[in-house]
Amino acid sequence: MPDTVIHTRSLGTPAEGVKDQYADGKAAKVWEYFIGDQTSRTQTYKTFLVNLLRQNGCKRILDVACGTGVDSVMLVEEGFQMVSTDASDKMLKYALKARWSRRKEPAFDKWVIEEANWVSLYDDIKHFIGDGFDAVICLGNSFAHLMDSFGDQREQRQAIRNFEKCIKPGGFLLIDHRNYDYIIKTGQTPSKCFYYNSQHTADIQTSVLYVSGKPSVVMMDYFIEVPGKENEENGINEFRLSYYPHKFEDFKAILLAAFGKGSKYKIYGDFEELKANDDPNFYIHFIQKTA
Ligand SMILES: C[S@@+](CC[C@H](N)C(=O)[O-])C[C@H]1O[C@@H](n2cnc3c(N)ncnc32)[C@H](O)[C@@H]1O
Repeated sequence: MPDTVIHTRSLGTPAEGVKDQYADGKAAKVWEYFIGDQTSRTQTYKTFLVNLLRQNGCKRILDVACGTGVDSVMLVEEGFQMVSTDASDKMLKYALKARWSRRKEPAFDKWVIEEANWVSLYDDIKHFIGDGFDAVICLGNSFAHLMDSFGDQREQRQAIRNFEKCIKPGGFLLIDHRNYDYIIKTGQTPSKCFYYNSQHTADIQTSVLYVSGKPSVVMMDYFIEVPGKENEENGINEFRLSYYPHKFEDFKAILLAAFGKGSKYKIYGDFEELKANDDPNFYIHFIQKTA
């Protein structure tokens, strides 16, 4: 079957998604507008995350996709001990700035921030792992940035294995992804959701690229209004991010392969219990490493 492209705008190539997509600094610059400022991620989300970690006795957390630091800052403020990593120095710059400006607060002084790639995570941060983290978190649809370069999901499986190795026995992985089954079916990405409270997201235009009949890359063009510049010609910032469209059942299988079929495993939809026939914006997987 010839390669097919549907729902297209101007498409790049799949290889675009393999490199650091944040390297030009464009997305990092307007990321805070996209997510809503550091303190205004929705209350639903904050309550969900903090309660889930506390109820499961998690204190020492590894945030493997900390980006500009939004979740890590919130968790440091809530009393968790954080080690935060990301592959993009452009994104980490904002997290480092946040830590520096609050360095006189003991909790922020102890906050560890390191550059690390999921594919080599265990080796990158070996000396910070100790007996293992109570939880590893990978949130904000981050994991889908890792493309399936070889067509057999080997890098994704390796990254999940690395996450598992960083977790202490009995600890947890909390990882999310957009509902790509819905995006593939409709060619659309909802621009408003529980996760991001942003008033400024004007649109997310979506393209699905098929290779050999399989959806292989989803590109999202984000249009973000810059506050105070709404009426100016360059008042809208546009950036493109590419994602591997994880199908729900396939993603579950990758997690179960790394953690074992008997692992305690719960899936949420938009920070609530997932019910039959739900079609949430986000799936959130919470899986335990066997003790
Ligand atoms: C969508 S942002 C989310 C950041 C943050 N969790 C949030 O919700 O605001 C995705 C982050 O994943 C990081 N990332 C993408 N691929 C990565 C990889 N292979 N290893 C480590 N980080 C990666 C990017 O640099 C980016 O900061």
